[in-house]
Amino acid sequence: MASYRICLLPGDGIGPEIIAEGVKVLDAVGAKHGVSFSYDEALIGGAAIDACATALPEATLATAKGADAVLLAAVGGPKWDTTDPAKPRPEQGLLGIRKELGLYTNLRPVQIFPALAEASTLKPEVVDGVDMMIVRELTGGLYFGERARFYDEPGCGSQGTPGQRAYDTLEYREYEIERIARQAFEAARKRKKKVTSVDKANVLETSRLWREVVHRVHEQEYVDIELEDLLVDNAAMQLINRPADFDVVVTENMFGDILSDEAAQITGSLGMLASASLGDGAALYEPSHGSAPDIAGAGVANPLAQILSVEMMLRYSFNLTAAADDVRRAVTAVLDEGWRTSDIKDAGTAADRVVGTAAMGDLVVAHL
Ligand code: IPM
Ligand code: MG
Repeated sequence: MASYRICLLPGDGIGPEIIAEGVKVLDAVGAKHGVSFSYDEALIGGAAIDACATALPEATLATAKGADAVLLAAVGGPKWDTTDPAKPRPEQGLLGIRKELGLYTNLRPVQIFPALAEASTLKPEVVDGVDMMIVRELTGGLYFGERARFYDEPGCGSQGTPGQRAYDTLEYREYEIERIARQAFEAARKRKKKVTSVDKANVLETSRLWREVVHRVHEQEYVDIELEDLLVDNAAMQLINRPADFDVVVTENMFGDILSDEAAQITGSLGMLASASLGDGAALYEPSHGSAPDIAGAGVANPLAQILSVEMMLRYSFNLTAAADDVRRAVTAVLDEGWRTSDIKDAGTAADRVVGTAAMGDLVVAHL
């Protein structure tokens, strides 16, 4: 029997509650398809800061590197919020593990589950048929560039007095753009064969390099794919204006961070969106949403994005297509039957169909 080692990173907030449901589903789908999973749990984010004074302990990195895949829930919370650059932040755990595992490709699928079509704040006819894949560059750009903060700098205060100064650096190397462009074109080949590359080439030098390299890769290797360029400000508008026109959207790290939250909101249910971060070794799977500290521990969080991250893991890391399809079918069936967690319920939801985290996980398992 095939067997895989999974590194579990529950993190903070609702993380431990939803990851338990992901594990439940993995075990059930594994049993059905003759695959077994073993788990090693490790600390990341605020939980790691509390225990080890760092958001990404060495032991966590070692466990992740030794695993076949990593399942992460969420990091962060008000307890660790600080603007003091000397203090550790939960997000450093996430950025750190992406960098250390070389996870340069972030796939964020944005789809509408028909049962939830009404959840969008956009008109139903606008969101009808939305099915896009955001391909976000994940280990370069502004989030990883050199940065610094200076105090008592001459002329930086409000009255020409000494004050603070800070900078971040946005840098991209040709090979970083090349490899993410290939990932986007490859993804498009399995979909509707269209790539939208988003940049700010009218202003930024990194964007001009981005555009040149994306076009070179396109001309040399992917002429069968349609390629369009959009400036990021315009892209932000078009995503709301004509979301169903997009297939694959490829962009650099920060633009991808922002546009993927916007795209998630098109579906009206951020609690449903999964993501995969891929590199050359073990990949990492996580929901696109955060740690929701306001509802942590209440047993009401929506575990479906975590469960759909498991679906992506089965598909991308283990090539278990039938098992992955099963998970998606089960989630769709549960929604079609009207079951909802409170974040995705609406006026039409029957009161006895609103369930908590564990019950939602059980329902998915029952439909496998
Ligand atoms: C995301 C998150 C992270 C990011 C944060 C938590 C560092 O917003 O995965 O989109 O910016 O990448
Ligand atoms: Mg984000």
